[in-house]
Formats: sequence, structure tokens, C-alpha cells
Amino acid sequence: MEYDLIIITGASSGLGRKFARVFAGRTGMLVITGRRLDRLRDLAEELTVAHKNLTVLCEPCDLADSDARDRLICKLQGMPHGRMLLMNNAGLGDYGEYVSAQKERVRSMVQVNVAAVAELTHALLPRLVEQGGDVVNVASLAADTPLPDFALYAATKAFVTSFSEGLRAELRQSHVRVMAVCPGPVHTEFGEVALRKGQARKEAPLRRCFYTEAETVVREALRALEKGRARCYPSAKVWLAGCVLRALPLWFLRLVLNRRPRRMASSQPLES
Ligand SMILES: NC(=O)c1ccc[n+]([C@@H]2O[C@H](COP(=O)([O-])OP(=O)(O)OC[C@H]3O[C@@H](n4cnc5c(N)ncnc54)[C@H](OP(=O)(O)O)[C@@H]3O)[C@@H](O)[C@H]2O)c1
Repeated sequence: MEYDLIIITGASSGLGRKFARVFAGRTGMLVITGRRLDRLRDLAEELTVAHKNLTVLCEPCDLADSDARDRLICKLQGMPHGRMLLMNNAGLGDYGEYVSAQKERVRSMVQVNVAAVAELTHALLPRLVEQGGDVVNVASLAADTPLPDFALYAATKAFVTSFSEGLRAELRQSHVRVMAVCPGPVHTEFGEVALRKGQARKEAPLRRCFYTEAETVVREALRALEKGRARCYPSAKVWLAGCVLRALPLWFLRLVLNRRPRRMASSQPLES
């Protein structure tokens, strides 16, 4: 599985960084994005030392800003393409009740987790269809169930899986494959970013047993992509959890959700 161009959003940390390391050996040009340019530059240096024929372009971009997204899209559209992999990986969450969520965080989640995925894919799809390639969208196990105290995040990831499935079916006759990756919890910066100011992290014991190593997520995603799978649930326990969640009748799911095992935030609205 070789590409002429690979674009990875959210490559400044966590899963994106690991995806970049694994995919660096499979392309001539890698574009990495994120807001933290210093992190992107460190990664670019590491990868160009490790892969002699690789060009790495760092494109700092705040994906929550629609003008910045447009500028990034213009640059990407102007690049020589060939066979391409677009990996929509950047994302963020917010732990706590929606009533007390900060306005900025709500906006960022919708812009980064939803709008950026839709717009980048839309902008690059004509070239992908013309020259072939793949789209990998990083969703979450949370896409398979509504989640109180994580409601908007789960809904944005449900968008990602639904969008990926619909697009995949549309592109069935083309040379473009679309896959959604649905990890369970992974130790990255995600958990810290999702915490609100002054919020102590209380984790449901059940959640703890679903943690998967970032390396496992990346390895299994790569394998699933090679096999042309529509979805990847990295690790057997996450795959099983996904199967159970999708099979549960809604009335039963509601009974379980109403117990709200993950209540975390005070219900006092925070200043936004
Ligand atoms: N970790 C988990 O438990 C878990 C589980 C399931 C799914 N996921 C999904 O996996 C993906 C990667 O998350 P991760 O676990 O690797 O978390 P992470 O370590 O926090 O990485 C998130 C990445 O997204 C980028 N990002 C966030 N906001 C951005 C913005 N406004 N503009 C541009 N880039 C932005 C960050 O870059 P900058 O901060 O430099 O901008 C960073 O590179 C996300 O889509 C997440 O929803 C994570």
C-alpha cells in the first residue's frame, strides 16, 4: 500500500503522531497538521532522518477556524497529488454535562470533529476519485452509543462513522476506499484536553478495562486498511464492545444510560 501523498491532521500528538511514523515509509510526501508547529517540526525532522526519500511538510492550522481551514485546503489542492491518503484524525472532547460546557469548546468540537472532516474530504475527493487513494476517518467507540456527560463528543463521532459509511457506499465503484477507525480509550493527550478547568478525573471502572495501546490502534488500523475494511475497532475487547452496543435495543440502552455512571462535572454552568 503505497501513496504519493499522505495528509494527516492532528499529527502533533497522540495517535496522529504514531500514524505519521507508521505511514512515513509508505509515501514520498507527508503533510502533517496541528496547531503546535514546534511539535510538527520535531516530528518532521525525526521522519526525514529515518526516511531518506521522504519530504515532510508542516502545515500549522487551527481547524476550528473556518478561514484557516480554507487556507489549508487551498494549499493541499495546489499540491501535486497522485495516489493519496487523507487521514482525518484531529479531534477533541469535553468531559462533563453539556449544560455547563464552555461555548468555545462546543464550537471547537463541532468545527474540528465534524466541519473539518466534511470540508477536507469534500475538497480533496475529486482528486482522490481521479487518481485513487484512501480516506481514513478517526471516529471512536463512543460513536456507537449516546453518552451522557460526553454527549456532544459522542454525537460528533457518530457523524464520523455515518459519514464514512455513506461515502464508502457512494465510492464503491471508484478507486477510493473509506474507513472509520473506532478506538476505545487510549492514553494520549486527549483525556487531559477533555478535562475542564479544576475538574478532577473520575473514571468509570468499566471504561478502564477498555484502554488500548496507541501502537495497537495504529497497527490494527493499518491492517484493516490493507484488507479494505469499512471499520476498524482496534483490539478484540473494543470490537466486542462495539458489537454489543450496536445490538442493544434503544429502550435498554436508555435504561443503562439513565444510571449515568460517569457523572463528573458540577452542574453549575462555567463561564463561557
Ligand atoms: N485518546 C482516546 O481515548 C481516543 C479514543 C477514541 C478516539 N479518539 C480520537 O482519536 C483522534 C486523535 O486523538 P488523540 O487521542 O491522539 O488525542 P490528542 O493526543 O489530544 O491529539 C489530538 C490532535 O488533534 C489536534 N487538534 C485538536 N484541536 C485542534 C484544532 N483546533 N486545530 C487543529 N488540530 C487540532 C491536536 O493538535 P494541536 O493541539 O497541536 O492543534 C492533536 O494533534 C481524535 O479524533 C479523537 O477523538 C481518541
